[in-house]
Amino acid sequence: MQTELAKKLGIEFPIFAFTHCRDVVVAVSKAGGFGVLGAVGFTPEQLETELTWIDEHIGDLPYGVDIVIPGKYEGMGEGDAEKLEADLRALIPEQHRQFVQKILADHDVPEVPDEEKMQELLGWTEATAGPQVQVALSHPKVKLLANALGTPPPDVIEEIHAAGRLVAAPCGAPSQAVRHVNAGVDIVIAQGTEGGGHTGDIGSMVLWPEVLDVLGDTPMLAAGGIGSGRQMAAALAMGAQGVWTGSLWLTVEEADVPPAQMQSLLDATARDTVRSRSWTGKPCRMLRNEWTDAWEAEGNPKPLGMPMQFMVTSNAVQRGHKYPEQAKDVNFNPVGQIVGRMNKMRPTRDVIFDMVCECIDATERMTNLMQQSLED
Ligand SMILES: Cc1cc2nc3c(=O)[nH]c(=O)nc-3n(C[C@H](O)[C@H](O)[C@H](O)COP(=O)(O)O)c2cc1C
Repeated sequence: MQTELAKKLGIEFPIFAFTHCRDVVVAVSKAGGFGVLGAVGFTPEQLETELTWIDEHIGDLPYGVDIVIPGKYEGMGEGDAEKLEADLRALIPEQHRQFVQKILADHDVPEVPDEEKMQELLGWTEATAGPQVQVALSHPKVKLLANALGTPPPDVIEEIHAAGRLVAAPCGAPSQAVRHVNAGVDIVIAQGTEGGGHTGDIGSMVLWPEVLDVLGDTPMLAAGGIGSGRQMAAALAMGAQGVWTGSLWLTVEEADVPPAQMQSLLDATARDTVRSRSWTGKPCRMLRNEWTDAWEAEGNPKPLGMPMQFMVTSNAVQRGHKYPEQAKDVNFNPVGQIVGRMNKMRPTRDVIFDMVCECIDATERMTNLMQQSLED
């Protein structure tokens, strides 16, 4: 099952797994796939700690890091992270901050102590993600850097290429794929609207072949709604060089998802997600709950742009992490429609193994069909 890209990266199966959890990165790469650590929640120092841990546990296997530099955001082009944060903070209406406080107070979600409060801006801009790139590149087993939410800036692409690593970027429409290729991106991740996290509005079945048709020789990874070997076989049959998955790894045994949040995921059906701007300012697929409904209700404040909306909600994210039981109806729960099939916690190894077996079965079914048609 080695596609050209899998060979290039030295992996057994073309299954790429986005996760915020270092244990999952290691488990995926050890099972023959390619683990990718989402860096957005880490300061450069924390990222260094996570990558050092991965290096110590992953053996000689490769893995990736995902950063977030949106193509467009408020304050774009300003280099100094602290100044940018202060300037943006001044633009946030007090009404938005009060609304967040009210939603959490109505659900009795406690405050986090002042000394534990995290930075509001995080790695959502070039100024904050730049140092993360340098940290990632100082780890030789990091063979790929992905950038969410847009074409990475030219200097970032140059820096990654100069270090001999590959650059990947997601798209939700063919025009974005063309922009990525023209900028020198090595791998395009075509993510259909079904996917968890930030996502566009075109379904995977329509998007993947449209993107493949404009890509030329640049490899495409198929994303959005992939949770089984049958879906993987469909993506490979269309011409994808692999699958890029995210939701699936939230309910593996190695994931560090708190029990209350895990239960919401295990219970959810494919109809329980919504694309909402209420946490980050850009459309993001997540479990629908009282928080997402509140931001849609008439008369309530509307979400701000990125990164300001996350500056308003970052404290709520932290409170949700610290008190998942109290926050279970108002928590940030990004996940895709494939959540409907994620009904049981399973070891990462089994998830990969089953996906590969099912993909082989689906391929055999197609081959038999062709053979039978020839014989008839
Ligand atoms: C909990 C969660 C958080 C995500 N955060 C990011 C992120 O920070 N950066 C990114 O490039 N993609 C992020 N994604 C999207 C994934 O990389 C991937 O494209 C998506 O999950 C694929 O669709 P699927 O969820 O149907 O597998 C996230 C997805 C989930 C489920």
